[in-house]
Amino acid sequence: MPVITEIKDLKRLYRRRAPKMFYDYTESGSWTEQTFRANTSDFAEILLRQRVAVDLSDRSTASRMIGQDVAMPVALAPVGLTGMQSADGEIKAARAAEKFGVPFTLSTMSICSIEDVAAHTTKPFWFQLYVMRDEDYVRRLIQRAKDAGCSALVITLDLQILGQRHKDIRNGLSAPPKLTARTIANLMTKWRWGAGMLRTSRRGFGNVVGHVQGVSDATELSTWTAEQFDPALDWSRIAKLMEQWDGKVILKGIIDPEDARKAADLGADAIVVSNHGGRQLDGALSSIRALPAILDAVGDRVEVHLDSGIRSGQDVLKALAMGARGTYIGRAFIYGLGAMGEAGVTAALEVIHNELDRSMAFCGRRKITEVDRDILMIPKGFSDGWQ
Ligand code: GLV
Repeated sequence: MPVITEIKDLKRLYRRRAPKMFYDYTESGSWTEQTFRANTSDFAEILLRQRVAVDLSDRSTASRMIGQDVAMPVALAPVGLTGMQSADGEIKAARAAEKFGVPFTLSTMSICSIEDVAAHTTKPFWFQLYVMRDEDYVRRLIQRAKDAGCSALVITLDLQILGQRHKDIRNGLSAPPKLTARTIANLMTKWRWGAGMLRTSRRGFGNVVGHVQGVSDATELSTWTAEQFDPALDWSRIAKLMEQWDGKVILKGIIDPEDARKAADLGADAIVVSNHGGRQLDGALSSIRALPAILDAVGDRVEVHLDSGIRSGQDVLKALAMGARGTYIGRAFIYGLGAMGEAGVTAALEVIHNELDRSMAFCGRRKITEVDRDILMIPKGFSDGWQ
């Protein structure tokens, strides 16, 4: 068993074990990757205030996200093609999350279907919706998530069209991978991944294939998105979808205070401040820099969560201390999954939890629900001055 002490250990192992096209998919931002890089480097600009001589016994990272108890406010973000990183990946990640006590979010573009994940888990998970042109399909998808007992609908707002990621185009990214000479040469070095894939029948987009006419296996993600995703999605359609779901709703992909206000006006339970991990609009603000103005704009009207750039428990702590009520990890758990399957996702969660708990304690706090901006040293002008 490899020794894992930080997320980077999982990333190294993941890079060795996963096929190149899926590693590249994870490790890409759009265009120049400026926003992808800023998501992590902006976290590093915020410093923590160490305090001493505080009773640090009986600490707790437990909290609540949209009214649900969580062992720490860190959910697994929806990630497309998770089941291509490791066979049956969504089931493995969902199981690791439920054992740890954090929410798992299943992507519309998952490999394992909603029903399949529900059949292999015991607690409700969250379902992420991409809004497609085909309204009937979307209606059925929402009904399927209801029938599977999903406890929140996460509607992604920032992917009506796809940000261009150069490597995915060059690699011809698809699920399952197309077998070109180059892909085969690469797959032959990934015996562990291949053995898992041979054992499973889950190799296409499980929520889609067989549910949408004309979509078969081996669909390229970029083609599928261009053909199926609804470029006309607007607030009125979002309101209708929320009505149809009639349960907890999280609106994901908000980076502007005006949009945050609109989401709060619609009555969302939470919004996710997110630039899609730097995968959509390159040149957008990092999520941590965008957070303060969004918090000012919505006040207590809606719970504010954050993703994009979180690679450590310290990043989680900084986001929470800034005022977010919850956070999400995407790449950090995918590294673990591709490295070691379910055990790797658990390892990622343990690493993050350990860093979160200790850093909180160094800052003189015992409860994650009590951290505030007082524990941070934020550089002057960190999030002001944008016109
Ligand atoms: C889809 O969610 C992607 O970022 O590829």
